[in-house]
Amino acid sequence: MDKTELLAKAKEASKNAYAPYSNFKVGACVLFDSGNFYTGCNVENVSYGLSLCAERNAISNAISNGEQGKLVSIAIYSPNTEQCVPCGACRQWLVEFSKEAEIILEDKQNKIISYNINNLLPEAFSPEKLKD
Ligand code: THU
Repeated sequence: MDKTELLAKAKEASKNAYAPYSNFKVGACVLFDSGNFYTGCNVENVSYGLSLCAERNAISNAISNGEQGKLVSIAIYSPNTEQCVPCGACRQWLVEFSKEAEIILEDKQNKIISYNINNLLPEAFSPEKLKD
């Protein structure tokens, strides 16, 4: 699955977003080294703080479906902004499943941009830390 296809899946997932409070829709598609991919969208709640981001829902979808591989990349898309970067909590969730995840976004000109989780969450508290 290439970056364009992964972003297309994230775009599709953003259409299912339940975002009646912010009206900010997000979709994500996460790819594992098994070759399997999983999508998620944001799901808000009337008790605002309980809302869940698309990225964490995509990762939960993967784990719930028995995925045990390494997370390779995640595409994130919102029709409401260009370059929908993951929030801090989602960055921490990504690090849980890979310290090298590629984060694939789309800029204003529909050009694909990618970041590495190393740059978005430097000096992360990763699972290896508990083994120190
Ligand atoms: N949101 C995501 O789903 N992912 C992001 O990367 C940024 C924020 C959601 C949370 C909330 O439902 C809405 O977008 C506005 O913050």
